[in-house]
Amino acid sequence: MRVLVIGSGAREHALCVALQSDPAVSALACAPGNAGTRRIAPPPSDGLTVTDPVAVAGMAQEWQADLVVIGPEVPLVAGAADAVREAGIPCFGPSAQAAQLEGSKSFAKHVMTAAGVPTARAWAVGGPAELETALDEVAALTGGAPYVVKDDGLAAGKGVVVTSDRATAAAHGRAVLDAGGSVLVEEYLDGPEVSLFAVTDGTTVLPLVPAQDHKRRDDGDAGPNTGGMGAYAPLPWAPAGLVDEVLAGVLQPTVDEMARRGEAFSGLLYAGLALTSRGVRVVEFNARFGDPETQVVLPLLETPLAGLLHAAATGTLAEHPPLRWRDGAAVTVVVAAAGYPEAPRTGDPITGADGDGVLHAGTTASPDGAVVSAGGRVLAVTAVGADLAAARQAAYERVAGVRLADAHWRTDIALAAVEGRISVS
Ligand code: AMP
Ligand code: GLY
Repeated sequence: MRVLVIGSGAREHALCVALQSDPAVSALACAPGNAGTRRIAPPPSDGLTVTDPVAVAGMAQEWQADLVVIGPEVPLVAGAADAVREAGIPCFGPSAQAAQLEGSKSFAKHVMTAAGVPTARAWAVGGPAELETALDEVAALTGGAPYVVKDDGLAAGKGVVVTSDRATAAAHGRAVLDAGGSVLVEEYLDGPEVSLFAVTDGTTVLPLVPAQDHKRRDDGDAGPNTGGMGAYAPLPWAPAGLVDEVLAGVLQPTVDEMARRGEAFSGLLYAGLALTSRGVRVVEFNARFGDPETQVVLPLLETPLAGLLHAAATGTLAEHPPLRWRDGAAVTVVVAAAGYPEAPRTGDPITGADGDGVLHAGTTASPDGAVVSAGGRVLAVTAVGADLAAARQAAYERVAGVRLADAHWRTDIALAAVEGRISVS
């Protein structure tokens, strides 16, 4: 099977590593890719614009791909999966319509309401006066809990402000409105967060192992929200039966509701969950593998990945054997550039980034073959171990071998879980 992966992050590098070890894969390409994916999955050609569905489908046809795997949300929302399927090539990833589960938070809320899926109460806001009213209402209902104000559209994990300061909440809402966007004000959800991925063909839903992301930039969950600074899996503190509960109460009803609307969702459904004192609630859906959680989920998957994704892309998941998982745990630590997330510095040389488990994100190879930073999230340094403590230690040993001037990473990825400090009330 010839597999083409679209994207250029550490998630795509993790996908390539897993696909490369599937004996069914005869050729592997990743476009546009980065310095890491280029070593194992060189792109068919340079300069792919991932937001151009015609270009994505054209590359897949020319390269004679048997399966296209679309990593990021932006090409999905732009219709890349539709274009690839129209060209007659199986594609892992939802249609533009179905990707609205991620592309529009208010669409996701409508689907959840129709499907009876538990989520935070939300107020859709179209203008400044409505914003103030919504903040009043949420304050009255939740009595002192922080305000949650979201950009309704895609914002690469940076569109959400959670704050106890009303002025900050209102300012974020106004900034989104001023930029022409729409805003959602939400009830605050307490409790630990879980990312649970499911592979689906639009009917059958196969959940993967739960993972946890660390969204804030700095140790102790301080600093701004980012696209994710590290992750670990599985979750030793997760209640028994969590995956079955989320499958029955969230994932399957959502997939069924999308099919009922004639907008079948196939690909990867990512449920971002809060385990609140009142039960499991959906924080958000994403329409693709999470980053950095993919970097810890895939190394634990023993089932060959290409066969699984191909079954989802061709509507044959019901016949797929049950997933097999390795014992042990995985930890990934994101190495970010100075200035991330506001104004990341690029163009710095990187050394020590070619070892096992060092997944590339914002990197590029200079003409002389040296690797230089090319984005805010530069590497995701990943290790597997017999347990979470061992995986964590191994991941940080690998981080210590990387050289990037003024790099920033969190030193406490998976630490609270290792120390038994996470509990579900
Ligand atoms: P989102 O882009 O919706 O995933 O939000 C990004 C992050 O903001 C989430 O992972 C949470 O940490 C936080 N967040 C979003 N919505 C809520 C909420 N209703 N209550 C508490 N935290 C939230
Ligand atoms: N880990 C957060 C995301 O992939 O959106």
